[in-house]
Amino acid sequence: MLWIKAFHIIFVVSWFAGLFYLPRLFVNHAMVSDAATIERLALMEGKLYRFMTPIGVLALVLGTWLWLGYGFAGGWLHAKLALVAGLIAYHLYCGRLVKEFAAGRNARSHVWFRWFNELPVLVLMVVVVLVVVKPF
Ligand code: HEM
Repeated sequence: MLWIKAFHIIFVVSWFAGLFYLPRLFVNHAMVSDAATIERLALMEGKLYRFMTPIGVLALVLGTWLWLGYGFAGGWLHAKLALVAGLIAYHLYCGRLVKEFAAGRNARSHVWFRWFNELPVLVLMVVVVLVVVKPF
């Protein structure tokens, strides 16, 4: 079980690297107007999203293996799963934003993306406390 948990944490950390960096690219993308930079950012966003998606899937598969394979239970896990569902929705919405930016259809400001960028930080803090401390 410890090997599964170790790789669960490794893929969670790698997934979060993408969940932190991709919205930061959106912040920059919403601020620039020259064609060369817009094209480069769109390329980076597409590559990053395609890279972080399978990593996220592996983090979730290993977490589910821990949950169902080793009989973990408790209020902490239910709360964690609810937050993880929010993270999956956030990830998929980022995928939609990648397409919108690539098509030049983004209408949101860089300020909006700065707030959007903070959401995964909050979720990470709560999830780690839930799974390590198990307060309920
Ligand atoms: C389908 C989604 C997920 C499921 C079912 C799941 C389930 C689990 C389970 C059962 C454990 C073992 C807990 C223990 O050993 O006490 C665990 C460990 C852990 N999970 Fe997840 N997890 C999921 C997603 C995530 C996500 C998205 C994060 C980060 C935000 C995360 C962070 C962690 C951490 C840090 C540990 C290690 C805790 C420790 O060793 O005390 N997990 N997970």
